[in-house]
Amino acid sequence: MARKIRWGILGPGSIAEKFAAGLKTLPDAELTAVGSRSLERANIFADSFNIPHRHGTYEGLADDSDIDAIYVSTPHPFHKECAILCLEAGKAVLCEKPLTVDAGQAEEMIASARAHNQFLMEAMWTRFLPVMVKVREWLADGAIGEPRLLTADHGSRKVLSTETLAGRHFNPELGGGALLDVGVYTIALAYMVFGAPSKVTSLAHLGQTNVDEQASILLGYDSGQIANLFCAISTETSKEARITGTHGSIHIPHFWEATSATLEVRGKDPVHIEIPFEENGFEYQTIEVNNCLRLGKLESDVMPLDESLSIIKTMDTVREQWGLEYPPFGSVLVPCQDNVVDPEERMTEEAIEKNIS
Ligand SMILES: NC(=O)c1ccc[n+]([C@@H]2O[C@H](COP(=O)([O-])OP(=O)(O)OC[C@H]3O[C@@H](n4cnc5c(N)ncnc54)[C@H](OP(=O)(O)O)[C@@H]3O)[C@@H](O)[C@H]2O)c1
Repeated sequence: MARKIRWGILGPGSIAEKFAAGLKTLPDAELTAVGSRSLERANIFADSFNIPHRHGTYEGLADDSDIDAIYVSTPHPFHKECAILCLEAGKAVLCEKPLTVDAGQAEEMIASARAHNQFLMEAMWTRFLPVMVKVREWLADGAIGEPRLLTADHGSRKVLSTETLAGRHFNPELGGGALLDVGVYTIALAYMVFGAPSKVTSLAHLGQTNVDEQASILLGYDSGQIANLFCAISTETSKEARITGTHGSIHIPHFWEATSATLEVRGKDPVHIEIPFEENGFEYQTIEVNNCLRLGKLESDVMPLDESLSIIKTMDTVREQWGLEYPPFGSVLVPCQDNVVDPEERMTEEAIEKNIS
């Protein structure tokens, strides 16, 4: 593909703004379209990012023949339905994390991508950050010997209130809770270091709205390695990761948005790296998708689909241990009230138009 890759955004909410800002800096891509359940919201978002095509339905965006790839950024319960809509319309999809809420949904989404011969990737942006690329190089070079222990935490403090209840974090109907929101980062990091675990054990505090407000997860591996992970939406933590090996360790402050890391090897001076983002960090995952599309690849080697599926299976096991089930999720592809024109009003509008002309 020699021309620019043309992107659309489905679900223009808070994270979509960061994605758009990152994408706008890439010379080989353009932000061509946005689709919201409301044309008004699509217009507002499009105006702030200078996006030419605006759609008041997700179907309209999926069917837009002027785009190549769609970024799905709805709340997690709707990822599957929205991604499949786009894949069936012949679009490549970059879908926000977690890929889906459970393994059954992920299997359907992945099957759709494969059946339609379309690219699909989970937007695990952390993995594509330049610091993480360097960390993988250190691990591959054996810089810390054999990795034996990973500790990682991602906790933020949100308080239950009328305002927060309106959002997705405390709402089980929107897949709320810490595990799917931020625990997934810690588990994905464990996969990056050790691969799929052979043992999973966990403990959670389910709050008033019956979502996991904080949780500890221990992953065990066949050769004795351990990942000790923590996630929360109710407790602020330092969001650090440390990988400890037989000869030293790697420390990554703010690991999910890392711009620095320190390699400490026994008997040697520490090596500290700082790699600021070109824009906001979200550009690197988009570069990966663009590169894959140009090479005709259907998935990324850095964030492969089988790994995303395995991560979700691990999260399913964790939720099963807590007895946490979500209520049935409705469909998001139902017209929104402010998008529906009352037939009587329409007739009146038509009549007025006729009278004017
Ligand atoms: N990579 C990261 O760092 C990062 C950070 C935050 C979130 N995320 C992920 O991105 C996804 C979206 O998160 P967000 O915080 O951006 O969500 P959000 O702002 O609450 O919602 C995003 C958009 O989804 C659409 N939507 C569709 N059905 C909805 C419903 N029933 N309720 C609310 N919104 C609905 C809305 O757009 P329209 O109605 O206008 O179509 C909304 O603006 C989540 O899966 C989350 O895990 C990733």
